[in-house]
Amino acid sequence: MKIFLDTANLGEIRRAAAAGLIDGVTTNPSLLAKVAGDRDPMEIFLEICEAIDGPVSAEVVAVDTETMVDEGTRLAAVHPNIAVKVPLTEDGLVACRELSSRDIPVNVTLCFSAPQALLAAKAGAAYISPFIGRLDDISHDGMELIRQIRVIYDNYGMRTEILAASLRHPRHVVESLEMGADVATLPPGVLHKLIRHPLTDLGLAAFLADWEKLGRDL
Ligand code: G3P
Repeated sequence: MKIFLDTANLGEIRRAAAAGLIDGVTTNPSLLAKVAGDRDPMEIFLEICEAIDGPVSAEVVAVDTETMVDEGTRLAAVHPNIAVKVPLTEDGLVACRELSSRDIPVNVTLCFSAPQALLAAKAGAAYISPFIGRLDDISHDGMELIRQIRVIYDNYGMRTEILAASLRHPRHVVESLEMGADVATLPPGVLHKLIRHPLTDLGLAAFLADWEKLGRDL
């Protein structure tokens, strides 16, 4: 099981990487737009790759196969750890087939159904990104999608890794991993919530208060 950080914020990435909490990073055009300013996106992807020793998903912004393949090839050239993200469209699946045939790892994103995930695996995807939170947002069952994909991939020995995305809270993380997702990608806020527990805070305060009464140093 791997934990990726879902952000392009270098400070958050460096902090989580230094703590040994993450195994990779995922980004998307919205997350990049939040941090890029007037900087070259390729430079930002390189900085992220240098901050974490693991897969870094960088998404194409074209919608046609030919340009997706061109963008994906240039993204992959930034660093060996880049995984190229393409949207789950017909053009995206054809681009996935072409890029993966060149040994470029592809993360097929914006997945909302089991049939989509099945076709992404057949197109050679290294990762499939089902968006759990966005399904829950419209009163569908995002976790059921993870279960369906796991069953289908296992039934037919498909090696595409399930990268649970659009996770809104710790329960999404725990349940997606219980369902057998290979990776959970978390916004920094969700990662911070995974660490905190009120009983930990209360217990630590009690330990320190009792130690204070003793009046000693270690
Ligand atoms: O990696 C996909 C993720 O960033 C989408 O999350 O919260 O925008 O649905 P969200």
